Amino acid sequence: MRYAIANNKGGAGKTTVALCLADALAARGRRVLMVDMDPQANLTRRLGYAESDLSSMVTTSEVVRENRTGCAAEAVIGCRWSVPWAERIDLVPSRFDLENRVPEAGQLGAHLRLARGLDGVTDDYDVVFLDCPPSLGHLTQLSFAAADGVIAPVVAEYDHVAGATRVRDFLTASAQHLDRPSLALVGVIVNAQDRRRGLHTWHLGSLRDLFGDLVWTPPVPSRSVLAEAMDAAEPLRAQTGSVARDLVTIFDELADRLESTNAAA
Ligand SMILES: Nc1ncnc2c1ncn2[C@@H]1O[C@H](COP(=O)(O)OP(=O)(O)O)[C@@H](O)[C@H]1O
Ligand SMILES: [Mg+2]
Repeated sequence: MRYAIANNKGGAGKTTVALCLADALAARGRRVLMVDMDPQANLTRRLGYAESDLSSMVTTSEVVRENRTGCAAEAVIGCRWSVPWAERIDLVPSRFDLENRVPEAGQLGAHLRLARGLDGVTDDYDVVFLDCPPSLGHLTQLSFAAADGVIAPVVAEYDHVAGATRVRDFLTASAQHLDRPSLALVGVIVNAQDRRRGLHTWHLGSLRDLFGDLVWTPPVPSRSVLAEAMDAAEPLRAQTGSVARDLVTIFDELADRLESTNAAA
């Protein structure tokens, strides 16, 4: 299954959630492909690649420009985390110049170019994550057109909830125009939850009202160790201490939910 990770709001934890789910899934033996569709390339950096490493590499920008069946195979590189399960995580990296694909949106059938590039390439993986930028523009639409389901990470605050709602409404209105008529939101992951904030508790309730069973549990709490792992380009599971262990347990539960969603599809 291919999942686009999207929210029409920056800083929701799209990239963090994608990486921690990949970490959890690879640790239990699954093969995971991460596709970086954000020109910010945070996913690519957090899997161990500096911008200078990428200057001569094939990235999502070339995959989309090439528009050839299966051409993403030439872009696949390994995860550079120094943990044994990193060998089960691969990456199609991105660079800032992915931005140059945006003006192509007006060309006939342009939204299908990523799907075409990934065709066949994803067969070897149990799960594929397409990490989107915080917009609903062309780069996200390319990801949606290549996805089987959409997961929206969301902080329990107004603008994030609104961003996730726009993702859901966009899919309802436009999935058919992306040649993916049954594409829908399959999960809302509440991230960076702070139980001391009444605001977060209140919006968690409103998320359950808005999205019902689509809100996966448990929420991911706000924890410095997670931000530090992301900053250092290391997996959550390599962090020591009880706070990190608790987060690992939470992402294991979220990975269970993802696998049951996979099985039901
Ligand atoms: N649960 C969390 N606790 C603490 N910091 C977090 C958490 N989730 C994400 N962050 C931090 O918040 C920032 C935004 O997360 P990121 O995954 O880059 O969001 P997005 O991809 O949606 O823009 C990053 O600095 C990340 O390390
Ligand atoms: Mg991101």
